[in-house]
Amino acid sequence: MSIQENRFQAIISHAKEYGFVFQSSEIYDGLSAVYDYGPFGSELKKNIRDYWWKSMTQLNGNIVGIDAAIFMHPTTWKASGHVDNFSDPMIDNRDSQKRYRVDHLIEGYTESLKETGQEAKAEDILGLMDSLIAKDDFAGLKKLIEDNKIICAVSGTANWTDIRQFNLMFSTQIGSLSEEADTIYLRPETAQGIFVNFLNVQKTARMKIPFGIAQTGKAFRNEIVARQFIFRMREFEQMEMQFFIRPGTQKEWYEYWKEARLKWHLSLGIPAEKYRYHNHVKLAHYADAALDIEYEFPIGFKEVEGIHSRTDFDLSQHQLYSKKKMQYFDAEIDEKTGKPFGNYIPYVIETSIGLDRMFLLILSHAYDEEILIKDDGSKDSRVVLHIPPVIAPIKLAVFPLTKKDGLPEVARAIMDECKPHFRCFYEEKDAIGKRYRRQDAIGTPFCVTVDHQTLEDQTVTIRFRDTMLQERIPVKEIKKIVLNSIC
Ligand code: GAP
Repeated sequence: MSIQENRFQAIISHAKEYGFVFQSSEIYDGLSAVYDYGPFGSELKKNIRDYWWKSMTQLNGNIVGIDAAIFMHPTTWKASGHVDNFSDPMIDNRDSQKRYRVDHLIEGYTESLKETGQEAKAEDILGLMDSLIAKDDFAGLKKLIEDNKIICAVSGTANWTDIRQFNLMFSTQIGSLSEEADTIYLRPETAQGIFVNFLNVQKTARMKIPFGIAQTGKAFRNEIVARQFIFRMREFEQMEMQFFIRPGTQKEWYEYWKEARLKWHLSLGIPAEKYRYHNHVKLAHYADAALDIEYEFPIGFKEVEGIHSRTDFDLSQHQLYSKKKMQYFDAEIDEKTGKPFGNYIPYVIETSIGLDRMFLLILSHAYDEEILIKDDGSKDSRVVLHIPPVIAPIKLAVFPLTKKDGLPEVARAIMDECKPHFRCFYEEKDAIGKRYRRQDAIGTPFCVTVDHQTLEDQTVTIRFRDTMLQERIPVKEIKKIVLNSIC
């Protein structure tokens, strides 16, 4: 295993050991590519969601939120193109019966080429793969696999079936009697809940173009190749925003959101060199331009967010299928004609980020195994999560040095003062050093210790997670210091 793969495995173990992420229904041996979030994981996830929601809605006067249902009328997915187009090319190995997504199979092979120094050959193969996928040339893709003698990791053979498309939507039945029940889908993206509500929102919130509608919520995809922990899941959460604009302005708004979204990532203090843009060669059926914001995970640079110029595709399709007008009347005067812009179906720029993937990004960024040199020259170590304070699950831990002499009462009073404002944690068990380490492991940025001096001069020791420095501060300063770091 490479150092990076080891690091990835260490992150996965840590996430479980410290109550961030558990395999779903683990007591029944789990469900593949489905995960549950534990006490600290659910806090972290909620904080990331809130951080996104605030930046999208509260800080942008022209973006409002909605919370649409997961179940939607089945025609939605016909209109959006998902029934016909939401599929991936797959190939099966006849010997192992294992199914692969074609791009993943080829990419896996090119990774192994790169590891043996054959970078140029790997790039050639990837370039050819992109162009074949763009043309839906399945025969060409199969030939590429055969020519390079790409084998199945399980059977070790190259006994491949033809390449076929598999739809990724989950379906279920709505209605009580099976003969009356209709097939409906679990939404594969939250975006369509926004499109079908475009007019409701525009009219009731009196929005003027350009404006956006934001939403967070669950999405479901029957991913065939489900691995890499919470990177690719079958049930996951998206944070999406559709920005409605005048036709013809899509290039400038695409550039705007491309930069704005990267700035959001950097605002969390994550270094810019860990990010890159990846322009799509093969565009989704709805897009006239698209890119991914990629982050360098321990498993390599991978997509965390997509920026898509979706044209008027979705609204036009919903107008066609529902026979309801999806137009907007733009009263603003067009300088070219001297007349109002009038009625049109707006164009859309979409920003779409996976909440679980952002969670994994934060863990990947934050996880650190540090070797510490003590004053006497001996070595110690700690595992610490350098989670940005604004999204840390716990902001402040409060420790009485001992369980007696009135120290717990003072510590409890600090808890009472702070807990209405941010998440705090109280602990009186074990030595202080051990308590610090436990908080480091869940990413708590501040710990305060109440000791006997506190009783005399109302000061405490505050200990900073990242530097491990300790300072004496007045009790009344604690709340302010923490609030300053998270606002
Ligand atoms: N509405 C557009 C859309 O859904 P996408 O590129 O398919 O676009 C957007 O998905 C984001 O959702 C991705 O960048 C990724 O972060 C997240 N995502 C997609 N599929 C996922 C999966 N199977 N597991 C976890 N996150 C996923």
